[in-house]
Amino acid sequence: MSTGTVNIKVTKTQSSRIKTIDFDNLPFGKYFADHMMVMDYADGKWGEPQIVPFGNIEIHPATSALHYGQSIFEGLKAQRNEKGEVVVFRPDMNAKRFKESAERMCMVPVSEEIFLEGIRALIELDREWVPTKPGTSLYIRPFLFATDDYVGIRPSEKYKFMIINSPVGSYYSEPVKVKIETHYTRAAEGGVGRAKNAGNYGASLYPAKLGQEKGYRQLLWTDAKTHTLIEESGTMNIMFIINDVLITPSEERDTILKGITKRSVIEIAKDWGVKVEERDISVAEVMAAIENGTLQDAFGAGTAATIAPIVAIGYEDKEYALPSMESRTLSHKIATYISDYKAGKIEDKFNWLMRI
Ligand code: PLP
Ligand code: COI
Repeated sequence: MSTGTVNIKVTKTQSSRIKTIDFDNLPFGKYFADHMMVMDYADGKWGEPQIVPFGNIEIHPATSALHYGQSIFEGLKAQRNEKGEVVVFRPDMNAKRFKESAERMCMVPVSEEIFLEGIRALIELDREWVPTKPGTSLYIRPFLFATDDYVGIRPSEKYKFMIINSPVGSYYSEPVKVKIETHYTRAAEGGVGRAKNAGNYGASLYPAKLGQEKGYRQLLWTDAKTHTLIEESGTMNIMFIINDVLITPSEERDTILKGITKRSVIEIAKDWGVKVEERDISVAEVMAAIENGTLQDAFGAGTAATIAPIVAIGYEDKEYALPSMESRTLSHKIATYISDYKAGKIEDKFNWLMRI
């Protein structure tokens, strides 16, 4: 298969599994489409990109990603629009972030062209796996990991790049409660919080479990030094509306993922004339705004999470209920706009969609 300047060798599956999937009942991330893409780096160069039937891969027990964590990933979504076309939302942004994550983790980056054309070729082949029901999509998971069979510590000399696709329903089926974390840390300045590396997620599991035991679906991380500034949640960036201003922590700190959903929300809001501030936002400011009634909305923004309304915030063993869902007109309007945008109900005025 040749897409643009990239040649991808394709080996098709002998028997599709699509008939075994209940598309009316799609949990997040459990089922995988028929094909996957694989490309290996060795001897200073990338080998041929290949699409093969989805299946297990064999790895050496000393595979360095398992021991020392050189492992990064991306997450994006494909949807079928009203004309039956498949569209992928802002994949160029994911390609760029993937490259930046690789650089931070001292890994060999994958070119944006291979990243994008790999997604295109794979979805052309597995088009039928893109679900059609509202709220569903094909979640695309590109990932890159170090494959040196060597137990010394050094940047790996071998890597494997893969893309797998999973038909999914929503990640959060109902509005979420989050707990402000003031003891554990997700990322410290100068660390790897900005990179989408596997270890960031592993490190957050234990504190997240403690939060879940108290009834909170997610944590709201704070800065590592003082635990007074809000950063982001485990799977999404955080956005507040206080006094009609949309406020979100600045990406200048290298502790926060540069979220594509959040960036899109900001661009839409600015286009509509909403005042947006990307700056430090303290726990004290949020608590004061809840107490004096100026906090109108709080929501998470992420590819898997989409726009996830936050119903309550836990802080220092107290729970603070946030304004009712009915009053949240702006975030609701933005969520509808993004969903209509992907469904092709409105024109692609920002040039955000890759059509397949
Ligand atoms: N923050 C973290 C830690 C995430 O895992 C994600 C999900 O990718 C986000 C934020 C949101 O980023 P995006 O909108 O690009 O999916
Ligand atoms: C995403 O939204 O793509 C994420 O990476 C979140 C999560 C599934 C890890």
